[in-house]
Amino acid sequence: MKVVITAGPTREAIDPVRYISNHSSGKMGYAVAQAARDSGAEVTLISGPVALDEPTGVTVIQVESAEQMLEAVLSQTMDVFVGVAAVSDYRPAQALPQKHKKSDSSWSIELIKNPDVLATVSALKNRPFCVGFAAETENHREHALAKMQRKNLDLIALNDVSASDIGFDHTYNALQIFWPEGEKSLPRQPKTELAQALWCEILERFSV
Ligand code: CTP
Repeated sequence: MKVVITAGPTREAIDPVRYISNHSSGKMGYAVAQAARDSGAEVTLISGPVALDEPTGVTVIQVESAEQMLEAVLSQTMDVFVGVAAVSDYRPAQALPQKHKKSDSSWSIELIKNPDVLATVSALKNRPFCVGFAAETENHREHALAKMQRKNLDLIALNDVSASDIGFDHTYNALQIFWPEGEKSLPRQPKTELAQALWCEILERFSV
């Protein structure tokens, strides 16, 4: 079974020294890659910039921006795609070729929408089994279910990123997973264990 997983944040260049990004540590995506590898799958991990060691037994492709992440994902063939990355939804309309110098009292940057990696994969003609994450701070369930439908996913894992003891940049996380016919709680636990539980659920649904 060939599995492609995205992880970490993306960085969207403003100029040669500045970028837009987010707090994703990559821990959850890397843990899912390890869980898939341990089950015997052939895993490619497409990672934004993180401070984690590359897992052994996994092919790692390092990228920076959302556009690079999309290109790397589309270069793969896969049976299962898991989008764990916190892809930046927008990027500066133009990355400045030189460092922006301080002069005015304010600075506006025009942002344009990035491609949606997960939605692009899920719209492919021979689409793989598609799993997404929903990082939400409010109306969690409603947003996750809408996202599953909008992106045509086989499974979605809801991540409450407003809680202070789980989620972004924490060792622990908790997930509520949804698929078109059901849902299940995966309680708060270390991300390594949670990733194994999630991977078991993915395998179960994939083989239905
Ligand atoms: N995702 C993606 N490409 C993007 C944005 C998101 O592949 N440009 C994927 C993420 O990896 C995740 C899922 O889509 O699996 C949902 O990401 P999330 O940030 O929760 O939602 P968005 O689609 O960005 O929508 P919103 O920001 O409005 O919640």
